[in-house]
Amino acid sequence: MIITVTMNPAIDKTLDVENFTGGAIHRVTKVIQDAGGKGINVSKTVHALGGETIATGFLGGSSGRMIENALDDMEIRHQFVHIDGETRTNVKVVDVTKKGFVTEFNEPGPTVTLRDIDELSRTLETYAGLSSIYVFSGSVPASIDKEIYGYFTRKLKKRQATVLVDASGELLTEAIKARPYLIKPNVYELTRYFGLTEDVNEETLIDLGRELINKGIHTVAISRGQKGALFLNHESIYKTDGIQVQAHSTVGSGDAMLAALAYGLDCDIPFGECAKLSIATSAGACTTLGTKPPAKELVEELVKEVRLTMVPFA
Ligand SMILES: Nc1ncnc2c1ncn2[C@@H]1O[C@H](COP(=O)(O)OP(=O)(O)OP(=O)(O)O)[C@@H](O)[C@H]1O
Ligand SMILES: [Mg+2]
Repeated sequence: MIITVTMNPAIDKTLDVENFTGGAIHRVTKVIQDAGGKGINVSKTVHALGGETIATGFLGGSSGRMIENALDDMEIRHQFVHIDGETRTNVKVVDVTKKGFVTEFNEPGPTVTLRDIDELSRTLETYAGLSSIYVFSGSVPASIDKEIYGYFTRKLKKRQATVLVDASGELLTEAIKARPYLIKPNVYELTRYFGLTEDVNEETLIDLGRELINKGIHTVAISRGQKGALFLNHESIYKTDGIQVQAHSTVGSGDAMLAALAYGLDCDIPFGECAKLSIATSAGACTTLGTKPPAKELVEELVKEVRLTMVPFA
C-alpha cells in the first residue's frame, strides 16, 4: 500500500488568455481546474499503473471538498485531515499567443495547527507496517516547521515502514538527516543541498549521489529532465538518457517518476526494471495535459524504448 502525504494541496486553475499583459483586462478563452499537489499527483499515477494507494494530508473549505470529490470521481482512496481555512488555489495564466509563456500565482496555503499535525500523525500511524510505503512530497504551508518530513520519517521507520521523500531546500536537508529509504532530487535540488551550482557534470552527480548513499539512504534517483536520470543504491548505479516524446506539459513529471518508483517497490520489481519503469512513466506524463497521469498501456510501450547503462563503481 502506498500512502501519499500532501501537506499543501491546491486546486490548479489554468486560464488561457491572448496577449497577456500585467495591469490589463483579459478575456479568458478556456479554464481547466485540477486537483493538484505533489502527493495527490503521485496517488493519481500509482492508481493509473494499477497500484493500491491512499492520499492523505491537509484539506480545508470548499476547495478541499472539491479535491475530495475529484479523487472520488477517479476512485482514488483518501483520508485527509480537515483543517480550518481554505485549501489554496494556484492560478496559471497561459498566453496562447506566446507558446510556453506561463505566469503563475501560488498562494501560501492555510495555517495548519499542532493539533492538525497530531491528527495527521495518528492517521499515518494507522497504516504503518512492514508493507507500507509512505511518500512525502512537495512544499508545506508556512506554519509548519521544515523539520516535519524528517520527523515523520523517523517515526514511521520505527514502525518498519518504507519512506520516500521528494522535497527541496530545508525540507530535504532535514529529511536527509532522518535517512529515508529513497529520495528523488532533481539536479537543482541535489546541487543546492551540497551548496553547489547546477552546472556539474555526470561524474560529479554520481559522486554526490554516492555520498548520500554512504550517509545511509538506500536509493537515490537523480532526475535530469529531458536528459534522463541516474539511479543509485549500494549495489548498482544505472544511468539513462531518457526517451524522446512529444511533450505537452512536463509539470508533474517528477511526481510520475516518484510514483513509479513507489509502485515498483510495492511490487518488488528489481532495481533496474524499476528505474526503466520510472523513466517510461515520467516521459509518458510529459505527453499528457497538465498533471494527468499516463495510461498504463502507454507506459508499457515506452518501457521498451528505455536504454539503461550500468555505471561501474569507481
Ligand atoms: N521533455 C522531456 N522528455 C522526456 N522525458 C522527460 C522530459 N522532462 C522530464 N522527463 C522525465 O521526467 C523525469 C523527471 O523530470 P524532472 O527532472 O524535470 O523532474 P522534477 O524537476 O522533479 O519535476 P516536477 O517536480 O516539476 O514534477 C526525468 O528524469 C525524465 O525521465
Ligand atoms: Mg520535483
